[in-house]
Amino acid sequence: MEDFIRRLPKVELHLHIEGTLEPDLMFELAERNGITLPYASIEDARDAYHFHNLQSFLDIYYQGANVLITERDFFDLTWSYLLRCKADNVMHTEIFFDPQTHTARGIDFDTVINGIYHALRQGEKELGISSQLIMCFLRHLSEEAAFDTLEHAKPHLHRLKGIGLDSSELGHPPAKFTRVFNEARALGLKTVAHAGEEGPASNIRDAISLLHVSRVDHGVQCVQDPELVKELADTQMPLTVCPLSNIKLRVFDRMEDHNILDLLNKGLCVTVNSDDPAFFGGYMNDNFLALNQALSPSKAQLVQLTRNAINAAFLEKDARQTLHQNLDDFWVAHGID
Ligand code: ADE
Ligand code: ZN
Repeated sequence: MEDFIRRLPKVELHLHIEGTLEPDLMFELAERNGITLPYASIEDARDAYHFHNLQSFLDIYYQGANVLITERDFFDLTWSYLLRCKADNVMHTEIFFDPQTHTARGIDFDTVINGIYHALRQGEKELGISSQLIMCFLRHLSEEAAFDTLEHAKPHLHRLKGIGLDSSELGHPPAKFTRVFNEARALGLKTVAHAGEEGPASNIRDAISLLHVSRVDHGVQCVQDPELVKELADTQMPLTVCPLSNIKLRVFDRMEDHNILDLLNKGLCVTVNSDDPAFFGGYMNDNFLALNQALSPSKAQLVQLTRNAINAAFLEKDARQTLHQNLDDFWVAHGID
């Protein structure tokens, strides 16, 4: 089964590029930029990665991002992630970035997006990995700050597929961002939002009805509202689930308790993603392997999780069809349970 998982062609839809900053690159960039880190060594940094909830993680995650200064830094960060995609057979990835984490430190919006975007284009050319870029607003900041960020993005609209909403969910429900999401949609951008990670199922309902999202990021708290679970299945609203993240941030106590396969069995369009792999113990293969170890899915279920991701991706018809064909071919070659 492990070999099957490693070879399975994958699609990732929930990945924060700042969450791929591995401690070794963090140290390299700190040295390059003359920044002092609060860790004595790479091991010391890894030892600090113990979290008891989302906020305890976010505090460390935003601090790590301080080493990202130049366009080259953002390029190197993104390129390292793409090499991991190649190693894990990720064929297509849709990545989030948090411009406000950087503009608040005096880094230009253009520096951030140029570095990330050029790495994505090189990844397409040299590694054959297709990608989309999604700009997230930090929900603990104001509506005005989100509008300001959208203004900065306007010269780059051709490089963005959509917008998202991330950071601290508790106390920051979707409603505050209704107007800025409306403007983004009027500009032709897709919308997604983190909802129902730590927060209540009502945040999922609001993300759908107020922010008109095409996908819900996380969404695992939908089980608090059985009627919502049924609606998510009926509408095939995708949930971008992040198994290792949910364990590290104590959304579930143990992987054995994770509800992703229950939701899959109920017919929901659930997908597997790595969220912030440098902080949560692994990339796409690690997430699938951890699910396999704890929940013993069938090969057909693992393929369905990828099929869901292909259906949920922001792709044109031909590119989606090519990924489906590739998965069909894989299933014919390797699909005996
Ligand atoms: N930013 C990075 N990772 C996040 C997560 N899992 N939830 C909310 N905001 C985030
Ligand atoms: Zn996330």
